[in-house]
Amino acid sequence: MIKTLLGGLSPTRFLRDYWHKRPLLIRNAVPGFQGLLTPDDMMHLASRDDVESRLVRGSGTHWSLDDGPFRKNDFKRLPKAEWTLLVQSLNHVLPEADALLAHFNFIPHARLDDLMVSYAVPGGSVGPHFDSYDVFLLQGQGHRRWQISTQTDLGLLEGAPLKILKQFKPEEEWTLGPGDMLYLPPHAAHYGVAVDDCMTYSIGFRAPTAEELAYGFLTHLQDTLAMEGRYADPDLRLQTHPGEISRGMLAQIGEMVARIQWNKRDIAEFAGRYLSDPKPNVFFDAPDTPLNRTAFIRQADKKGVALDPKSRLLFAGGRFYINGEAFTPGADEIAGLQQLADYRRLNPPLPVALRERLHAWYESGWLETESS
Ligand code: SIN
Ligand code: CO
Repeated sequence: MIKTLLGGLSPTRFLRDYWHKRPLLIRNAVPGFQGLLTPDDMMHLASRDDVESRLVRGSGTHWSLDDGPFRKNDFKRLPKAEWTLLVQSLNHVLPEADALLAHFNFIPHARLDDLMVSYAVPGGSVGPHFDSYDVFLLQGQGHRRWQISTQTDLGLLEGAPLKILKQFKPEEEWTLGPGDMLYLPPHAAHYGVAVDDCMTYSIGFRAPTAEELAYGFLTHLQDTLAMEGRYADPDLRLQTHPGEISRGMLAQIGEMVARIQWNKRDIAEFAGRYLSDPKPNVFFDAPDTPLNRTAFIRQADKKGVALDPKSRLLFAGGRFYINGEAFTPGADEIAGLQQLADYRRLNPPLPVALRERLHAWYESGWLETESS
């Protein structure tokens, strides 16, 4: 981790005093940081159909939102002020962005969402709003003025195509330049406006809602549940109303449903699969001309391996989860896999016990050898 990233705070103190609690401005968090790409690179990314992008225009109470992919000409028609181009999951397509995320390793990977980048011309903004997630806003090229507020009135402008606060009452204001960073906890009202041509890198985290988790868990249970028995009524008595569902029938159904049980193992299995599952728009590309097993091992042994930026590898106890799949590795694989999960790479030489598994992941596009 870069020493200055948290402005001299240790990760322990940052987590205790700021994380999920209050904003923190860090001047010169990443010294010398000028950004990872140019406006032209951004426009090129926004023209790809495998990259999620949006264009926000407007100010005050007038806003418009368009989804990408865009054509180069779309940008030529834009005015000189008041628009912002957003590109999601930059870490999936740019190795430097993936490397930048590694500095935020003091937050568990299961909480990480992605790195979003915005490019704005003067006056460009996505409006005053709040997010449901923690975010680090790292300034790349140019300058952005941020205003924040502790207001609890989070009422939104009606009819706007994006979440804009109806009333925004700024309490603090800073202009961030290259390398400066602002941490915001969930629900902190904020409003960033580009002072000049500027780019902001948002390191975003995810926190599923109780409803999403419950729905996901019920779906998981549905796939794994094994129940015995069948409705039975050897003591059935003549009913006055054949159309009525009797109390006895309801009671028996209630008992059957109440037999659905789960334990800590089921919870871990669900959590591991759910949290490592890539977003629906993520696809892995198998290598075009894959190295054969021997060549892969030779290269990996020399250069090491790294998870593909889109891969998510997590573990709980002795159970591992990669991209929504679960497995229990052999005892001799565990240390290497934990290292790969923590640092997303394994330095050479490759642990012999991991060769087969890593080669299979390489063939699926989940992992790459360092020089490929
Ligand atoms: C931006 O970078 O323009 C928006 C980021 C945010 O406000 O969350
Ligand atoms: Co925001």
